[in-house]
Amino acid sequence: LTDISTLLLSRIRDVADYPEPGVMFKDITPLLADPAAFSALTDAFAGICARTGATKVVGLEARGFILGAPVAVRAGLGFVPVRKAGKLPGATLSQAYDLEYGSAEIEIHAEDLTADDRVMVVDDVLATGGTAEASLRLIRRAGAEVAGVSVLMELGFLGGRDRLAPALDGAPLEALLTV
Ligand code: PRP
Ligand code: MG
Repeated sequence: LTDISTLLLSRIRDVADYPEPGVMFKDITPLLADPAAFSALTDAFAGICARTGATKVVGLEARGFILGAPVAVRAGLGFVPVRKAGKLPGATLSQAYDLEYGSAEIEIHAEDLTADDRVMVVDDVLATGGTAEASLRLIRRAGAEVAGVSVLMELGFLGGRDRLAPALDGAPLEALLTV
């Protein structure tokens, strides 16, 4: 592991059996509370934005807002929220996706992206990839290009990377940690 990976990993707390039995929850609040770790994470994501020529950062509600907003500021880019359905007041595009049990829906303000934009999606965790995949559909439906997806942690055993591949269409999936 590199120095930054070791630092980030040391600030993620494993919580057993949360939110339900058998699940190991990855709690990022210790990382957020440590300014050196949060800043290093923000720098790493901002570097990915620069390398991929991103023009906008999309953060996925809710934890992707916390991580993505400072990345946008540090990279000098605009921030666009992808929200859970029913929270955005303007003209939205909506995308439904399947969960393990049931389904979910996310939305974006269509006017926040243009055909000139290359968009970096930022979130904390890639699990099944369903949320990130739906966000990429929204970005393309808004007429913008996908610069990539950046996550703090990829849960490799859930196969999210494979699920995401068609929607990425060659754009990079950058995971700072694979757990
Ligand atoms: C969690 C996590 C990712 C998503 C990953 O969000 O923050 O956004 O699940 O899962 P997936 O790859 O299987 O789609 P969640 O909506 O549970 O909670 P949050 O609002 O706290 O971010
Ligand atoms: Mg989330």
